[in-house]
This record gives sequence, C-alpha cells and structure tokens, in this order.
Amino acid sequence: MVIAIDGPAGSGKSTIARRIASELGWYFLNTGSFYRAYTLAQLEKGKDPLDRDSVLETAATTRITVQNGNICLNGVDVEDKLHTPLVDKYASPVSSDPRLREIVTGEVRELAGTMNIVTEGRDTTTVIFPNAEYKFYFDASPEVRALRRLSEQPELNYDEVLHGIIERDRNDMNKSVGALKIAENAIYLDTTNLTIDAVCEKVYNAMQKH
Ligand code: DC
Repeated sequence: MVIAIDGPAGSGKSTIARRIASELGWYFLNTGSFYRAYTLAQLEKGKDPLDRDSVLETAATTRITVQNGNICLNGVDVEDKLHTPLVDKYASPVSSDPRLREIVTGEVRELAGTMNIVTEGRDTTTVIFPNAEYKFYFDASPEVRALRRLSEQPELNYDEVLHGIIERDRNDMNKSVGALKIAENAIYLDTTNLTIDAVCEKVYNAMQKH
C-alpha cells in the first residue's frame, strides 16, 4: 500500500508524511533526499552541480542507501548535511536531468519494494507511484512556506528564503520530466492556515472516504 504526497517545498509534506508513517507503522520515504544526496556528493567532490554529465558520473559511482530512515552516501550517514543553503539551491537543477530522474525513480521503487510506505516529493503521485492507493497534493502560500522554513532555521534571511522558494517552484514546475503538478486523481489540500494536527485529520478523513 502506498500513500504518496506531492507539493512544493514547505507545503508540509515531510512533516505530515513522517507523522502518518509513524502512526500507521509504515515506512517513510522522502524522495527529495535522493536528489539532495546526489547534489551533496557532487559538491563534496568539488564538481559543478550544474554540469549534468558530471553529476551523472558522480551518481554512477555513488551508492545511496537508507539506514534507520537516514540517507547514506557510500555507507556514510549524510542526513544532517542535506539541508544546507547550497544543497537547497542546487538540488532542483540537479533533479531536472531526466536521466538522473530515471535512476532515482528506479532506486525509490526498488527500496519501497512491497512495503507499506508513505512517500513524498514532486512526482511520487505522477511518475514514481502513479498507481498509489492514496494520492495527495499539498499546497500553501510562498510566504507561509518561507516562514515555516525560517522557524526551522532562524538564522536565515526571510527575503532570501522567499526568493529561493519562488525560484525552486518555477524550476520544479517546468521540468521536462517529473514536473510538479497535481495528479489527475489526487486530493488537493491547502495547508496555509492549517495546523499539523488538522492536516493529518484531513488526510485520514480522505482515506476513509476513498
Ligand atoms: O522535497 P525537497 O525540497 O527535499 O526536494 C529537493 C529537490 O528535489 C527539489 O528541488 C525538488 C526535487 N525533487 C524532485 O524533483 N522530485 C521528487 N520526487 C522529489 C524532489
């Protein structure tokens, strides 16, 4: 069984997906972490994250695994390095290469196997798991999404975060493959003015009605 949630950065996907997975005792799979991990691998090599061929070479020599819910690069846990401003900035262009998307799609599907999972990203409802039993699209205003980000990292600058979010939305929605969009039969939830509890309740209600 698969619950898949797509939506822009800061719409609440990770928080809600993690919580629902924990409440149901299902596996939580954050697909954005794969693109972040490849971005980090490229940056750590001192190579250009905008050079698509070079990123693909890095991907070919990098093994991503998940241990205790944390992403590992060639066996090393890098979970706490995946949300720096630099990885934030380059993960979206890195994820724009259809060849890398194919690799990640295969890796995610393989990892999910036959487990019950709650997964989230930009194309989990459209490309990775188009036949997921439950599909959701979360949305929220860019301003609220920027504020959410700042509450996690208060040292950041609001205008810069907001600008970064708008920039990433534009890139994520205009990819040639795996663009962020609302899947045909996904349930749309605007989380702008909702608490985490309220969003979870709406998800469970929608699942019951399904
Ligand atoms: O959800 P996130 O911010 O951690 O994702 C990092 C980047 O990866 C983001 O710019 C969008 C991209 N991404 C994607 O293209 N497809 C996914 N399924 C998940 C994330």
